[in-house]
Amino acid sequence: MSYLKINNIKKTFGKFIALNNINFEIEKGEFICFLGPSGCGKTTLLRIIAGLENVDSGAIFLKDENITKKHPSKRNMSIVFQSYALFPNLTVGENIAYGMKNKRIPRHIIQKKVDESLELVGLRGREDKYPNELSGGQQQRVALARAIAYSPDILLLDEPLSALDAKVREKLRNDIKDLQKKLGITTIMVTHDQEEALSMSDRIIVMDNAKVVQIGTPQEIYEKPANNFIGDFIGKVNKFEINGNKILARPEDISLADENCDNFFAGTLDSWEYMGSYYRLKVNKKGFQIEVDVCRNKIKDISLKKDQHIFLKVERTIDGGMEWN
Ligand SMILES: Nc1ncnc2c1ncn2[C@@H]1O[C@H](COP(=O)(O)OP(=O)(O)OP(=O)(O)O)[C@@H](O)[C@H]1O
Ligand SMILES: [Mg+2]
Repeated sequence: MSYLKINNIKKTFGKFIALNNINFEIEKGEFICFLGPSGCGKTTLLRIIAGLENVDSGAIFLKDENITKKHPSKRNMSIVFQSYALFPNLTVGENIAYGMKNKRIPRHIIQKKVDESLELVGLRGREDKYPNELSGGQQQRVALARAIAYSPDILLLDEPLSALDAKVREKLRNDIKDLQKKLGITTIMVTHDQEEALSMSDRIIVMDNAKVVQIGTPQEIYEKPANNFIGDFIGKVNKFEINGNKILARPEDISLADENCDNFFAGTLDSWEYMGSYYRLKVNKKGFQIEVDVCRNKIKDISLKKDQHIFLKVERTIDGGMEWN
């Protein structure tokens, strides 16, 4: 039995098809990402699961119960948005308690849940602050505390990290993942950031153009993309020919070679980008431009010059459903 089952969901806005026969199942405790380009239907699907949007057809089952028509307040799910959506006139503690007060939960239990959830998100002692006294990252932690305070069956996160700067984002990404593991909350997070999806998910549901196009572990999605769109969306794939053989390979799967090794090929260096821990070389081989990631340590001995000869070797090619064309 799956925990959450999405069965043939279809959703239109007027004549526009926002979701086209969506099917998948999620197990209890999984961390799932909806990954896909802007406008593909991720938020709409999340809102449908939360009950904030009706479906045209299809059904949603939670623990085998058909909840398709159930009111959002009866679904025991909580949702965190990109914009923190805190009440500015309420303190942190009051923000977290708000939903529970509406559910008439006794005051001492609410206080306990507020304390526990603030502790979990690393904001103990901030209960009496107002949202505008907190940084963006801290406000998002409050939104998260509010979402987990009353132990939802499913935690829904709609791009919760995208408004934050890189360092805060990375820290909160790790903290959300740790928290999710610790509490075992079944979580669905929407993102269009492939790195976020790869690093956080147990499984990724890739969407494109109102459809689910692949479901798999981060490794499966990255290493065996089901089609060209997915392969390109989740990173760079080089397409080129060596001696008539058509090659699909990621930049990190091509390495610098020397002329003594088997199967090397030569190209000329067009340009390069310094990326910090590695260089991305753009190498021309008979009209194909091949991007190659080379660890910074390996570059020292070949000081880079435009048009210099570069010898390369393909370590690994792309598996899955990508086509060379
Ligand atoms: N209430 C609405 N009325 C009309 N069209 C809508 C409505 N909500 C969403 N859409 C359309 O449905 C499509 C999917 O929107 P959705 O917000 O689900 O995309 P998304 O994948 O979350 O994109 P993003 O990454 O930009 O947030 C878009 O083309 C959007 O314009
Ligand atoms: Mg969205």
